[in-house]
Amino acid sequence: MQKLWEGRFSEASSALLEEFNASINFDKKLYKDDIEGSIAHSSMLANCGILSKDEADKIKNGLNQILNEIESGNFEFKISDEDIHMAIEKRLAEIIGKDTAGRLHTARSRNDQVATDFRHFCMRENLAIAELLRTFVKALVEIAEKNIQTIMPGFTHLQHAQPISLAEHLLAYAFMFKRDFERFISSYERNNFSPLGSAALAGTPHAINRFETAKSLNFNAPIPNSMDGVSDRDFALEILFNISVVFTHTSRLCEELILWNSQEFGFITISDAFSTGSSIMPQKKNPDVAELIRGKTGRIYGNLISLLTTMKGLALAYNKDMQEDKECVFDSVKEVHTSVVILREMLKTAKFNEKNMLKACKKGHLTATDLADYLVREKNIPFRKAHFIVGKCVATAESLGLDLSEMSLENLQKIDGEIDENALKCLDLFNSKNSRKSYGGTADESVRVQLEILKKWLEK
Ligand code: ARG
Repeated sequence: MQKLWEGRFSEASSALLEEFNASINFDKKLYKDDIEGSIAHSSMLANCGILSKDEADKIKNGLNQILNEIESGNFEFKISDEDIHMAIEKRLAEIIGKDTAGRLHTARSRNDQVATDFRHFCMRENLAIAELLRTFVKALVEIAEKNIQTIMPGFTHLQHAQPISLAEHLLAYAFMFKRDFERFISSYERNNFSPLGSAALAGTPHAINRFETAKSLNFNAPIPNSMDGVSDRDFALEILFNISVVFTHTSRLCEELILWNSQEFGFITISDAFSTGSSIMPQKKNPDVAELIRGKTGRIYGNLISLLTTMKGLALAYNKDMQEDKECVFDSVKEVHTSVVILREMLKTAKFNEKNMLKACKKGHLTATDLADYLVREKNIPFRKAHFIVGKCVATAESLGLDLSEMSLENLQKIDGEIDENALKCLDLFNSKNSRKSYGGTADESVRVQLEILKKWLEK
């Protein structure tokens, strides 16, 4: 017998069809989930009196032997077996005999089998990726902790805006990745339910126990509706979306690292270990890692859009279109692991060039708002008028080739007689940063509050 389904066929499959229809080249990744699912299913069938204990034991032993064969590289994956489910079942028949192996598929269909395997894979990955993100947040927190007092220009419109602490900047990302972590956990909690026992679409007349298989596969419970169980792939869409958001965040961070690593900024030096050279320009050191992560974001979004589009017009329940659900997920999952790990290690070994950051703070009159706030607070001048006076101060500083923070009291007083030496304090970059004590602000004490929140969370 060539095919498990060939009973009603009188002609052999075209080689073209075999090649086209097969998913084994990629769904072999699900071998472990498939074997675990089959062991859970057969032992449940035995507990329900549908298989004998002896048959279930034989099936279990045979499946474990197959697991060994696959893991030791001694299993032949054949296109003619179509997919991992049929390849394993066929091999099981060779090992324990057709009669017993043929009982495994009682009360089950490949439709609930694949939905179970794939969900199992995605649930495990939700947890694994969440854990990975936790390690990333930890790395950011560690770098931030050492840089509470490192001052740099904060940007809006990529223009120097106000002085901030490097820690404030890095912790902005830490909080984003913390939310990403939570997104994977919430997807896990929402979707960790078992389709197994939904059978082809409508359930089964056999007296099975879906709660038992759900429990032995570590799902919370069976999915209450069999058609929903076999036909939705929202759990896969969620993991693709969650990964897309991670890449939105890593891509923005990478863009900044690329800028900061440039000659123009010089804020960081990416270590040699994570830089690449040029084949023609001997002097070059390129931030390829950051560029690649930024670039991969396109493919990651594509994977999400691809599955959304595949699913959008499908009548219930299973359709073969849904075989297209796996490669995009496998790809995004693989990429998020490698990208987050390498980005984490690259950040840990990068050198932050404090001097250049401080120097950059002296360009762009970063403390102009502070001077206006001072005039409002201490001289009771209406904000609009204060804004105008400071505008004049900035223009004078420019004409003298100075930054506002470098202006002398004398020069300032020529512009407005009300200005006194307290103004100099608020023009100081560090004083400016540390005046922003509001909750979430960039002052040392506010940054420490943020660090506490994150450290408490990391300890959990
Ligand atoms: N390889 C298939 C997939 O990935 C398994 C399910 C096949 N079911 C079917 N009725 N043809 O979707």
